[in-house]
Amino acid sequence: MRHATDASANSGDIHQKVDPAAAADNEMFEARGQLSALIYAFVTPCVLKAAVLLGIPDIIATNGKTDPDGALSVHQISAQLKSDSPREDYLERLLKHLVAKKVLKEIRDGRTGESKYGLTSMSNLLLKGRNGSSGAPMLLLLSEDWVQQSLQQIDKVVLEGGEAFVRAHGVGFWDYLEQKPAAQNLFGDAMANDSKAVLLGVIRNYHGFKEVKSMVDVAGNLGLAVGMIVQAYPHIQGFNYDRPHIIAHAPIIPGVEHVAGDMFKRVPTADAIFLKHIMHDWDDELCMKILQNCYRALPENGRVLIVDIVLGYGGVNHPLAGIRAHRDVLMLCTQSGGRERSQDDWQQLLETSGFSHMKFIELPTPECLIEAFKPTKLEQ
Ligand SMILES: C[S@@+](CC[C@H](N)C(=O)[O-])C[C@H]1O[C@@H](n2cnc3c(N)ncnc32)[C@H](O)[C@@H]1O
Repeated sequence: MRHATDASANSGDIHQKVDPAAAADNEMFEARGQLSALIYAFVTPCVLKAAVLLGIPDIIATNGKTDPDGALSVHQISAQLKSDSPREDYLERLLKHLVAKKVLKEIRDGRTGESKYGLTSMSNLLLKGRNGSSGAPMLLLLSEDWVQQSLQQIDKVVLEGGEAFVRAHGVGFWDYLEQKPAAQNLFGDAMANDSKAVLLGVIRNYHGFKEVKSMVDVAGNLGLAVGMIVQAYPHIQGFNYDRPHIIAHAPIIPGVEHVAGDMFKRVPTADAIFLKHIMHDWDDELCMKILQNCYRALPENGRVLIVDIVLGYGGVNHPLAGIRAHRDVLMLCTQSGGRERSQDDWQQLLETSGFSHMKFIELPTPECLIEAFKPTKLEQ
C-alpha cells in the first residue's frame, strides 16, 4: 500500500507531499470498510437468534449465579445445551461474535486464564421472563422467513409498484396473520414486549394524562398499552379497540374495557384517543379516514395522542436516526402503503383532518409522542 504522506527526509523538505493516488486508495479502503460493515451486518441478527434459540442469555443468568462475575466458561454453557454432543468449538465462535458486538462480555479468569462469558445490558434484554419487555420476540419475528421474503421484494416494487408483502405472500400483512396463528402469536408477543418499553417512555415523558378522563387505544391489540396508562393514572376510564378476532383473545385488564370493531368505520367516544404504531401501517388516505373517525368521536378540546416515528427528528446525527430509517423500509415491505413520516408529513395529515395545537414530544425510544387537539367551536 502506498503512503498518502511522505516526509522527504533526503531533500530536507519539511512539508509533507500528498500522493493523490495513495489518498484515493485510502479513501477507497475506508469506504470499503464502511460498506463491508453494512454488507455483513446481516450476520449479527442470525447469531442473536441462535443465541436466543439456544437459551444462552438465560443459561448465563441462571447458572452464572455462583460465579463472582456472574459469568460462565464455554464448557459450562455447553453443558447446559439441549444436546448430548454439542459442538463447543462452534459455540465458542458464536460467543466471540457476541462479545465483539458487546452483547456479551468476556472475562479472563485470573487463575486459569480461561475465558468466561457474562451478560451485558443488551443481553439482559434478551432474557425470558423480563416481565414482558424482552427484545427476543421482536428479534425472532423479524428473523422469520416470511418477513425476510417480503424484504426481498424492494427492487421489484420500486420498478413495478405494488405491495412487497402481497408480492411475497399473495395476501396483505393483516390477512396473513389472521390465517397463520403462529405468526399472529409471534407478532402479538413482539408488539406487547415492544409496547412495554415504549409505554414506559410515554408515561415518564408525557404528563397530559392528568387531564384525561377517558381514553380509547385505537387498534390497541391486546390492550397492554392502555392497561399500563390506566395503571399509572387510575382515574382514566380505559378502552381497548381492535378487530374482533383480536379482542376475542384479549386478557382481562383492570380498568380497561375491550371493544371490537373496525377503525375505518368508527371509533368509540372518549376525551383522548391513543394511536400507537397505527398510522405508520397505512397510506395518507386511510390515515385521514382514521383521523376523521377520531375527530368525530372526540368532544371539543379532546386530544389525539399518536406514538410513532418522526423521521428526521433531531437531525441525521441523532442516535436513533438509523433505526428510524430501518423502520421506514420495514413498513414499505410489510404494509399496504405503510410508511414512517416526517414532522411536516404529520403536521399536514393532522391539520387536514381538522386538528390543531400540535406538539411533538421526544421519547427515549425511536418514537415521538404527537399531541393534537380538536379545536373548540370558537376556534373552528
Ligand atoms: C402494529 S399493531 C399495533 C398494536 C398496538 N397499538 C401496539 O402498539 O402494540 C396494529 C394493530 O392494528 C389492528 N388493526 C388492523 N386493522 C384494524 C382495523 N380495521 N380496526 C381496528 N384495528 C385494526 C391490528 O389488529 C393490530 O392489533
